[in-house]
Amino acid sequence: MERSRIALPIGITLDRFIKSKQDEYPQAAGEFSQLLRDIALASKVVNREINKAGLVDIMGYIGQQNKAGDEQQKLDVLAHIRFSRAFSKGGEAAGIISEETKSFTDFKNKGKYVVAIDPLDGSSNIDVNVSIGTIFSIYKRKTRPGTKLTQKDFLQKGSEQVAAGYILYGSSTMLVFTTGKGVFGFTYETTLGEYVLSHPQMRCPANGKIYSINEAGLPQCPNPGIGRYLDKCKKDGFTARYIGSLVADIHRNLIKGGIFIYPATDRYRDGKLRLLFECNALAMIVEQAGGMARNGSKRILDIAPKDLHQTTPFFVGSKRLVKELLSELQRK
Ligand code: AHG
Ligand code: MN
Ligand code: MN
Repeated sequence: MERSRIALPIGITLDRFIKSKQDEYPQAAGEFSQLLRDIALASKVVNREINKAGLVDIMGYIGQQNKAGDEQQKLDVLAHIRFSRAFSKGGEAAGIISEETKSFTDFKNKGKYVVAIDPLDGSSNIDVNVSIGTIFSIYKRKTRPGTKLTQKDFLQKGSEQVAAGYILYGSSTMLVFTTGKGVFGFTYETTLGEYVLSHPQMRCPANGKIYSINEAGLPQCPNPGIGRYLDKCKKDGFTARYIGSLVADIHRNLIKGGIFIYPATDRYRDGKLRLLFECNALAMIVEQAGGMARNGSKRILDIAPKDLHQTTPFFVGSKRLVKELLSELQRK
């Protein structure tokens, strides 16, 4: 029996998992594994800093704004630094684009991959001890390794991601990722300092009873289909759940079944969530788990980005629910 076909038992460490899966990527085995290890390592450091958030003076605003005009918090910046450093030291990523920086960083090495990252997602929840996350996308660079990186290397469709995932710093810390062959969830075992496989081949239920939207924005939604869909959910006995940390909202719906909705509003005419740093990775995860991710008319993963910080409406989750919402949106 091939090594990669052996059933992977719950409890296997991330490192062993990566080794046993290397056979599936003969053309990229070592480099790719190193990237995943870099992410795991940086996430452990960030996890430690998050857990100290109430104890040391790393909470609160740093007094700057990022490109989208959000207040940056110290942990946003710290997480950005930790992940950037892990990738630049690991040597497999040629560069990185982060939600926290205006443009990309070229590590000036021979790496074949580039990374897009939201180093800390849900940062308004840090001060109040609520779950937050990290979201990442990995692409093969378009230009030749060893040459200067260009925007072209980062402005790739989500369908070109070679891997994507998130870390959820929740009641436990989890690393969930896909390389295009299903979704695997690892839980951080703090006493061992290791991620262990806890959720092999995660599947998003085709149906569900949870809707997640910041409903306060509903009056500012130009499309009345959103309101109609929510009325229908209410009649059908749904429950509303909205954390305000995208990773946590998606993770819950992925496991329990549900729909996450961030529409275009008068305030956010193209939606609020970022295609490159948030939506692409989560869309790949959800699709790999059997769910669906759309912007209203298009598959998220088919959008050709024009701007590094481009935003998009985001409708994602259980297939049946997303389809129902889309038909409401199209109804006049
Ligand atoms: P970030 O903290 O990376 O800026 O992301 C915040 C995002 C996302 O996590 C969440 O789903 C959304 O903002 C919540 O927005 P509203 O406050 O408008 O509901
Ligand atoms: Mn975010
Ligand atoms: Mn962020």
